[in-house]
Amino acid sequence: MTDKNMTFGIVGCGRVTETRHLPALRSLESARVVALADINVDRLNHVADRFHINHRYTDYRRLLSNRSIDNVAVCVPVKFHVEVASAALAAGKHVFLEKPLALGLDESDLLIGRAKESSNKVMVGFNLRWHRLVRRARETIRQGTLGRIQMVRSILTSYHENVPEWRRHRTYGGGVIFEQAVHHFVLWRFLLQSEVEEVFATSRSGKWDDETSTVTARMANGALVCSVFSERTMARNELEIYGERRCMRIDCYRFNGLEETSSFEHPGGIHSRLPNIKDTLRELPIALLKLRHGGSFVDSYRAEWRHFIDAIGRNTPVEPTLADGRSALQVALAVVESASSGHPVKILPEPAKSRPA
Ligand SMILES: NC(=O)c1ccc[n+]([C@@H]2O[C@H](COP(=O)([O-])OP(=O)(O)OC[C@H]3O[C@@H](n4cnc5c(N)ncnc54)[C@H](O)[C@@H]3O)[C@@H](O)[C@H]2O)c1
Repeated sequence: MTDKNMTFGIVGCGRVTETRHLPALRSLESARVVALADINVDRLNHVADRFHINHRYTDYRRLLSNRSIDNVAVCVPVKFHVEVASAALAAGKHVFLEKPLALGLDESDLLIGRAKESSNKVMVGFNLRWHRLVRRARETIRQGTLGRIQMVRSILTSYHENVPEWRRHRTYGGGVIFEQAVHHFVLWRFLLQSEVEEVFATSRSGKWDDETSTVTARMANGALVCSVFSERTMARNELEIYGERRCMRIDCYRFNGLEETSSFEHPGGIHSRLPNIKDTLRELPIALLKLRHGGSFVDSYRAEWRHFIDAIGRNTPVEPTLADGRSALQVALAVVESASSGHPVKILPEPAKSRPA
């Protein structure tokens, strides 16, 4: 199979499919989305009409039995992730599975077990790991430029007024911890190359469970994390990494959102501002290119799809893996436990083979 003729079917025609995945896949020459499935026939027809997709199914199993489809994206509410992804694997498809992996670790392990028995790929949709600034920051941190990392400040907020019923309930994977914060739990581990060891969380509910949460954490390498997550205020998506030599700020919504400052200089000083002005000028041509695809943040969805298609075509490993998804879920479950009990919660180390590469 060459990557020129890869066919896709998508199960679930909700918000993420319509606003992120279909535009991203449509912009890639190597991918053709040929089928959609959704139990809501109005939603199915609305999205299929908008993207001119002919094969439409209200039962996802009929999509899976369509032999002209090589790959399946699972974009249903979390409660159905393991069921649909397992069925897709059993039908011989490569699987792209939206985050979070599942509602519980037992379920995740079931899927991980099934994936091990299959030669097909399973990738988890943590698109921020494919954000160009995140990847650049990770490389800088990996090279040791920042020195020993003391702490991380992490903010992921957005404003929602109406959300689907399942997103109102923690038990169905709703609320900011499962829906949004998992994106940053994955990034802490990805950027610092270290596991989350302990969390302490507080959370407030209003119109729905966990509208806003604060989480502090200790990483295995000693770094401390302080974070805020909300679905009820303005949009921010930022991480600050404070090293002993240098500090780094990543703003995932700005084209020139990667800033580095020496730990020894006053931030207002000309020596710390000049390099950032130079960086902005250097970033401009890249930013203009990315603008065609909605900017660097939206482009992270395109980047994850490009990686998935490439990994299938070349038969190379995909990332993020199911193990990455499991580890983020483990942190989310500990955060929920801490927010409920009012106590810090330790996270049991995962088997060595699932640690970050
Ligand atoms: N990576 C990201 O940035 C991102 C963003 C948003 C959502 N997500 C994830 O994507 C998934 C879907 O989220 P969403 O916001 O699109 O949800 P949504 O509620 O808008 O859409 C889900 C769709 O799945 C359909 N559905 C439900 N059960 C089904 C079944 N058994 N078979 C077929 N269709 C079924 C629903 O009718 C609905 O149209 C969730 O796991 C969510 O966490 C990821």
